[in-house]
Amino acid sequence: LRIFSKEEMLDRFNVVRQASLDMVKPLLPEEFRMQVMGDASPAWWNLGHTTWISDRILHEIGARASRWLETYKQPLNSYYMGEKLARDQRGSVTWPSTLNVLDYRVCVDELVRKQIPTIPDAQWPEFSRYLELALQHEQQHQELFYTETKYLRFQNQPKYRQSYRDVPALLHSSGAPPSWFTIPGGLTEIGNAGDGFGWDIEYGIHQRYLEAFQISSRHVTVGEYLHFEEDGGYADESLWKSNGWKWIQSTHIQAPEYWECQYGTWKNWTLAGMRPLWCSEPVCHVSFYEADAYVRWLSRKGDEYAGVRLPTEFEWESASHCIGDSFAKANFLDSGLLHPRAATSEIVLAGEVWSWTTSHFEPYPRYEEYKGFLSEYNGKFMDNQRVLRGGSCVTERTSVSSSTRNFWPPTTRFQFSGIVLVRS
Ligand SMILES: [Fe+2]
Repeated sequence: LRIFSKEEMLDRFNVVRQASLDMVKPLLPEEFRMQVMGDASPAWWNLGHTTWISDRILHEIGARASRWLETYKQPLNSYYMGEKLARDQRGSVTWPSTLNVLDYRVCVDELVRKQIPTIPDAQWPEFSRYLELALQHEQQHQELFYTETKYLRFQNQPKYRQSYRDVPALLHSSGAPPSWFTIPGGLTEIGNAGDGFGWDIEYGIHQRYLEAFQISSRHVTVGEYLHFEEDGGYADESLWKSNGWKWIQSTHIQAPEYWECQYGTWKNWTLAGMRPLWCSEPVCHVSFYEADAYVRWLSRKGDEYAGVRLPTEFEWESASHCIGDSFAKANFLDSGLLHPRAATSEIVLAGEVWSWTTSHFEPYPRYEEYKGFLSEYNGKFMDNQRVLRGGSCVTERTSVSSSTRNFWPPTTRFQFSGIVLVRS
């Protein structure tokens, strides 16, 4: 794993920490405190929690932590064992105030900046690795922030909903049909080989035997998904997994998150405001259950789509290797679009929207969780979650590679999650 020099790390630290402050600038004062669903945290908490984790890491590696570490443990600790404010209660407290949290950020930033040059060279690799973990953690929360803010601003009456930010115009395309790439079968290596950042869950390179398969050159589009919706896909029990059908029955969900039918016309809520549905864009904000029902519906259409299904996470990773580096051209957070781009004839596997896979989130064969307090970071979530691959238009580019494993419960829709097809 690459170890940053002290100068590089200082620069990176400043950039990532500033990005969190920049992203909250468009918020109204009320929005810093609002929590509109249990899974989404208010902005004050994201800003404070990422700071507390950095502070805790300073303490962990024997550097000087702030004097606020214990004081802020209860409100800003997350799932780490010990006393903590429940996740769904983060919108119910007024302490620490938003100003408290901003002051805390300044304090911890100063501590880190002052200490980086003083770390003895022998200890620098460990310090640097931990600091990179803290920054990668902050980048994960930045992605959450965009998805949470999109959800938050959708809650107001349609007429009073405010866009988060104007974005560069997105090109509308004719929505070229997908082409299919053949990925040869055989033994394939899965996992992070250590040449870029990775979480503990990616390590333990191991072999998987895959049958040959084909993968579609792009994500399923809004227009394609609309046919499923218009064909009564949400009302046909035979298309759904048992738990998915129960979920549809209890939630009365009829369309992807943020689709809204106004006067007979579908509209789509984006971070740049409400817009007509654009049929050539990737469909987005669907749950695993919706993705799964869609591919079952599509496979029944026969012809080219006979036997289509969602990929396993190993198929996705193998395809990503075979197709080459599609990450360089991918639409991640740095494009500034905050929305997936319309399909073109170019192959798009990474970026735009996370791709649901059928794989349950499980440890790799030689999985070793982090030592110490970070041991809880990922492993304890290996329970009833499905893996997503590839990153989205609100994922920071340095946070994702062909081995990155994201995971969410099968009903989650507020992430930028979509569908890619494979067939055997
Ligand atoms: Fe966190």
